[in-house]
Amino acid sequence: MKFFLDTANVDEIKRVARLGLVDGITTNPSLIAKEGRDFKEVIQEICSVVAGPVSAEVIGTKAEDMLREAYELAQWAPNVVVKLPMTEDGLYACNELSRKGIRTNVTLVFSAAQGLMAAKAGATYVSPFIGRLDDIAADGMRLVRDLKTILDNYGFVTEIISASIRGIGHVEQAALAGAHIATIPDSLLPALWKHPLTDAGIEKFLSDWNKAQAKQ
Ligand code: E4P
Repeated sequence: MKFFLDTANVDEIKRVARLGLVDGITTNPSLIAKEGRDFKEVIQEICSVVAGPVSAEVIGTKAEDMLREAYELAQWAPNVVVKLPMTEDGLYACNELSRKGIRTNVTLVFSAAQGLMAAKAGATYVSPFIGRLDDIAADGMRLVRDLKTILDNYGFVTEIISASIRGIGHVEQAALAGAHIATIPDSLLPALWKHPLTDAGIEKFLSDWNKAQAKQ
């Protein structure tokens, strides 16, 4: 499973990249706004730190605006992926871009049918939002499982980015479902490698070692 970081914060990206855990980055307008920096400057800096795909989202809601933005975004760095909303205009833009060889990530996907439409329109990536579905008492993980089955049934090459991840369970279940990628906020990462029994084990080993040393 590939891990993307769901952030526009370059310091976070650099820190986690040192662990060899960052295969790519997803950003969205909210994450960019949080940084209070120029959009192009942030995306280009991220692209210089991470070799993998970096999703940058269009703001326009009309296809012609999305396409104008997309062609500009695609010039910013070779690893930019154009993120498009899951709308009719977004699908049109996705199809146009895919036919021109520009990689896309169709975002805000909340049903298997939407994911199938994105794949048919040629999306490189499709992003089902697990946490936001769970928030409204729906089953976000079922969407990931259903989408994986559907894409596999027809041999689509579109990769599933499990997005809106809220905890370790989402990452484990998405991996079990065969999702290609999980995009994870930095704040959730430690939960993926930490365990209280690991900490307790280290403490016990060190204490036993020190006791034995003291007797020698
Ligand atoms: C994915 O591309 C989105 O940026 C992100 O996962 C949204 O997550 P949220 O629901 O926690 O905002």
